[in-house]
Amino acid sequence: MSEKWLSGKVVENRHWTDTLFSLRVEGAAPRFRAGQFVRIALDIDGQRVARAFSFVNPPGDPTLEFYGVIVPEGPLSPRLARLRPGDALYVASNPAGFLVLSEVPDAETLWLVATGTGLAPFLSILRTPEPWQRFRHVVVVHGARHARELTYRELIAQTPAKYVTLVSRESAPGSLGGRIPAAIADGRLEAAAGVALRPENSHVMLCGNPQMLKDAQAVLAARGMRKHRRRTPGHITVESFW
Ligand SMILES: Cc1cc2nc3c(=O)[nH]c(=O)nc-3n(C[C@H](O)[C@H](O)[C@H](O)COP(=O)(O)OP(=O)(O)OC[C@H]3O[C@@H](n4cnc5c(N)ncnc54)[C@H](O)[C@@H]3O)c2cc1C
Ligand SMILES: NC(=O)c1ccc[n+]([C@@H]2O[C@H](COP(=O)([O-])OP(=O)(O)OC[C@H]3O[C@@H](n4cnc5c(N)ncnc54)[C@H](OP(=O)(O)O)[C@@H]3O)[C@@H](O)[C@H]2O)c1
Repeated sequence: MSEKWLSGKVVENRHWTDTLFSLRVEGAAPRFRAGQFVRIALDIDGQRVARAFSFVNPPGDPTLEFYGVIVPEGPLSPRLARLRPGDALYVASNPAGFLVLSEVPDAETLWLVATGTGLAPFLSILRTPEPWQRFRHVVVVHGARHARELTYRELIAQTPAKYVTLVSRESAPGSLGGRIPAAIADGRLEAAAGVALRPENSHVMLCGNPQMLKDAQAVLAARGMRKHRRRTPGHITVESFW
């Protein structure tokens, strides 16, 4: 079945760093749930080239927002980064994905754990009322190579979430060093968040680098936490970006 496309227009392309950008798009607003993604596309040399992007905006906002990184050799992301206000962007009509709170069982603490642009779906979730109604604590954990890549700090700081950052390739005041799985394993993440990460009290949503998802699930398994499935409830929900 051929994909149905909505025709949007770029209204802003914010560049945070040489490689990170946020696109705001108007005129195409499919219905979705916070945490979901949609395919966005450009016509390149007569071919429609599409990739999945998570919504950063909350549902109901007529302006869509997407957060991307330039993969230099990638077919689409360098071109998205070059879009200017007024340029066209196609948005598929069928958002999808299970990284949504309706798939997450009740818990005392919700951990939203991301590397890089994997933060995007959590920003949408943080901008809805549900996390604050359902969870006593919400902890946002963002890991990046460099401190300048810890984007959307102001937005996160405006929410009641506890916010822990990790920087892996330089030392950065106010951030933990290294990678997320190591900080889980040695207790630094819990110490920084000020809450326990245990199967009895926590649900963890993971998004971003597939190797991080794998390594984080391994250290969480050592704590007795396992993937959540509708038929076999657990403590971990994941979405891989590649
Ligand atoms: C469900 C889902 C949601 C996604 N949401 C986002 C999003 O919100 N923002 C976003 O930037 N990307 C997101 N992606 C990745 C996105 O679809 C593209 O792969 C990415 O924009 C690169 O596109 P490309 O055509 O330039 O290169 P591709 O040919 O698609 O990718 C080439 C390689 O680049 C690397 N790569 C791809 N995406 C990333 C990334 N985000 N961060 C670091 N390395 C990456 C991988 O090694 C990949 O094999 C998502 C992917 C999936 C499956
Ligand atoms: N970020 C940049 O400076 C930069 C510059 C140019 C191009 N790019 C392009 O962007 C893409 C990378 O983007 P990115 O930096 O957002 O994503 P990334 O490579 O996934 O790195 C984001 C964070 O995830 C960490 N990570 C990687 N593997 C992990 C694992 N197994 N467990 C836990 N954490 C892990 C990284 O730590 P480590 O640092 O230890 O790997 C880093 O802190 C590449 O395709 C690259 O070509 C990035």
